[in-house]
Amino acid sequence: MPLLARLKQLPYRVMRRIAIANRTLFFGCDLASLSHFPCPEGLTVVQWTEDDLRQHLGEENYLDEGHAVWLRDDQAVCFAVMDGERLAGFAWIAHGDVPGEMNHDGHPDTQLPLFLPDDTGFVFHVFILPSYRGRRLYAALMSSAAHQLPNRGIEKLVLTTECTNRSALRSVGRMGFRQVGRAWLIKVGPLCSVGYPEQPFLGGVRTGTYVGDPHERPND
Ligand SMILES: CC(C)(COP(=O)(O)OP(=O)(O)OC[C@H]1O[C@@H](n2cnc3c(N)ncnc32)[C@H](O)[C@@H]1OP(=O)(O)O)[C@@H](O)C(=O)NCCC(=O)NCCS
Repeated sequence: MPLLARLKQLPYRVMRRIAIANRTLFFGCDLASLSHFPCPEGLTVVQWTEDDLRQHLGEENYLDEGHAVWLRDDQAVCFAVMDGERLAGFAWIAHGDVPGEMNHDGHPDTQLPLFLPDDTGFVFHVFILPSYRGRRLYAALMSSAAHQLPNRGIEKLVLTTECTNRSALRSVGRMGFRQVGRAWLIKVGPLCSVGYPEQPFLGGVRTGTYVGDPHERPND
């Protein structure tokens, strides 16, 4: 990222350390226009069952019992890149009404629910293990998902990325996602600034309100 852009983000980066500050960018893409990235040789992408997931539960993979419940209840699907028996990374895709637990930066106040039309999936909780980063595995996961998701009636993807997550921004830009909105929640003591994308966006996506939003919106 150019130095000037980094300097512009400095106050926000400092704010994230001392207060609650989340600036999120929304990206969207039709599956048909997603750039195709093959899985590197020796690795494979699989759609996980609950049993598959259970073999990789653990803090080191950021996977717990709650994730198994999402699969069991068909609230989301999970695609994983495997290196033989070893996990290299995964990406989750939810549909329908997406609870705030699936869209946040780790702080409970930043949970932001989403409401999706039937043809749209929400990509979330993407994690590539550090030793596999930079090999376009996020893109390989999305290419594989693009083959499977039309079976579920999904033709578009939406995702959110924290605005300073350079690796994720480079990755989604390369795949062909375009920015379709932004949202923010900045809270310092009693002061709070909140913003949401114009709604609906990307052909029918709506957001709820941040859990930490103290204001009421006109349509609440
Ligand atoms: C963001 C993330 C999913 C990208 O996955 P990926 O498969 O490594 O993506 P790419 O191969 O397209 O690489 C993206 C960028 O990561 C950076 N990168 C490359 N190698 C890297 C490495 N070894 N370690 C860290 N970052 C690296 C590069 O800037 C690269 O872009 P560039 O090659 O154009 O310079 C992955 O970095 C990750 O899991 N990060 C932690 C969790 C996270 O941020 N999830 C996304 C939430 S939206």
